[in-house]
Amino acid sequence: MKDIYILAIETSCDETSMAIVKNGRDIVSLTVLTQMQVHANFGGVVPEIASRMHTENITMVLEDTLKKAKMQVSDVDAIAVTYKPGLLGSLLVGIEFAKTLAFVYKKPLIKVNHLIGHIYANAINNELKFPILSLVVSGGHTELVVMEDDYKFKLLGATLDDAIGEAYDKVARVLDIPYPGGPGIDKLALEGKVSYDLPRPVMDNSYNFSYSGLKSHIINVVHNHKQKNEEIRRADLAASFQYVAVDELKRKLELALKNTGIKNVIVAGGVSANKYLRKEIASVCEEYHANLSIPEIIYCTDNAAMIGAAAYPLYQRGEFADFDLNAESRYSSDREH
Ligand code: KG4
Ligand code: ZN
Repeated sequence: MKDIYILAIETSCDETSMAIVKNGRDIVSLTVLTQMQVHANFGGVVPEIASRMHTENITMVLEDTLKKAKMQVSDVDAIAVTYKPGLLGSLLVGIEFAKTLAFVYKKPLIKVNHLIGHIYANAINNELKFPILSLVVSGGHTELVVMEDDYKFKLLGATLDDAIGEAYDKVARVLDIPYPGGPGIDKLALEGKVSYDLPRPVMDNSYNFSYSGLKSHIINVVHNHKQKNEEIRRADLAASFQYVAVDELKRKLELALKNTGIKNVIVAGGVSANKYLRKEIASVCEEYHANLSIPEIIYCTDNAAMIGAAAYPLYQRGEFADFDLNAESRYSSDREH
């Protein structure tokens, strides 16, 4: 069978990324240019700056990706691009660039849902075995999804308010950890002890999540300490937050493992880079004799390699996008392809 090379483009938030992916699983080359340091000055992503920086950088990212692969655009079989969900202006930069390449080089265009991309990060250097329980933990989403086959998803539950990554970022902010706070909390928590008593969301028998109560409680704890001029045990608070946040994921995953009997688990999204989460989810899977896949750290956070992996099943089915492809932010059903 002929090898299929897909040039994938990801610009949904603050990373300008491109990759060339062979047969949906081998990464020929990957470039991730992050704007993180710029946005850190503002405590979060500034959409207007993000789209402008994508525009400035995208050609350079393409050149770098091609150079590392020792390939030309004419060598690839298709162009894939993230079209939702994300920041509209940022998505549009990637989409217009992808359309231009597809038009000029006469290649099919493939549209990829960013969340499905995160899930397919687990197909990199790996074979997905269905059915799968998929736990998506990113800056914008927290979901438990059953995947019965390629692109066959059934949502079990999702967050009713904040996503787990958002909670990490907000908690980090009150602890004076620069944006994005997740990696900072991950590190700081290693030095701390779980010693703050924090509230847990009470939704026992559903698969839904809630992180806004936990986040607000921590913000209040920090403010109260500051008002009284008391010292905050930052590392302990970070460890206590992670303990409750990840425990929620564990509880819902256990419930799903029990109720569905599924024996394959994958974790996806930026927060899956978290060391504590990786360890804790691994121990749940061990207990239930389930196979666990979590992407390598570089494929956990936003990158185009996962977009190339997710585009491959669509290429095989001949599901191509038209040139009227448009960006979608996050109000429509995010999991629908
Ligand atoms: O998937 P992602 O890169 O972007 C979205 O699609 O949202 O996820 C970004 C989120 C941010 O909230 C960031 O703080 C979090 O992932 N994150 C982490 C870690 N690395 C990134 N959270 C906890 N521990 C980490 N090591
Ligand atoms: Zn993402």
